[in-house]
Amino acid sequence: MPLEALKEGHRRALQAVERVKAAGELARQGETAQAIAIVRGLLPFLERDQRVHFRQEEEGLFLYLRHIIGDGPVQAMVGEHESYWTAIATLKRLLDGSGSASELQRQLQHIFYLLDGHIQKEESAYFPVAEKKLSAAQLQEVDDEMEAIARLG
Ligand SMILES: [Fe+2]
Ligand SMILES: [Fe+2]
Repeated sequence: MPLEALKEGHRRALQAVERVKAAGELARQGETAQAIAIVRGLLPFLERDQRVHFRQEEEGLFLYLRHIIGDGPVQAMVGEHESYWTAIATLKRLLDGSGSASELQRQLQHIFYLLDGHIQKEESAYFPVAEKKLSAAQLQEVDDEMEAIARLG
């Protein structure tokens, strides 16, 4: 199936952000240590796996999509990737104890909405356009490139 690597990345990211949201709820209830432990456990995914996923889009699919939908809409998605890294950097500062439980809770909620909303847009608007407008050969090229990016890690 075309774009399967990205779709699988989204399924896994949605599971991760559900846990981010649950950790936010724990922080709200005053269970800050438990919330921090959960989020620390999720950080390898939120950082390393997301970095690979965003590279697969930015250096793979988006290069093709740019020719179809133009720079603006592609740049909007790249901008959201950048917002995500800013949010993760803030989260890491909060995990190191430089913030209140309510700040941690708000930041976890922010990351949930940011990534969940981003994925919904890609799945509902960007991927369908790619699947409709790119040829089977182009989609295969995109998949091959994304596989090469994943191998580099
Ligand atoms: Fe993305
Ligand atoms: Fe994505």
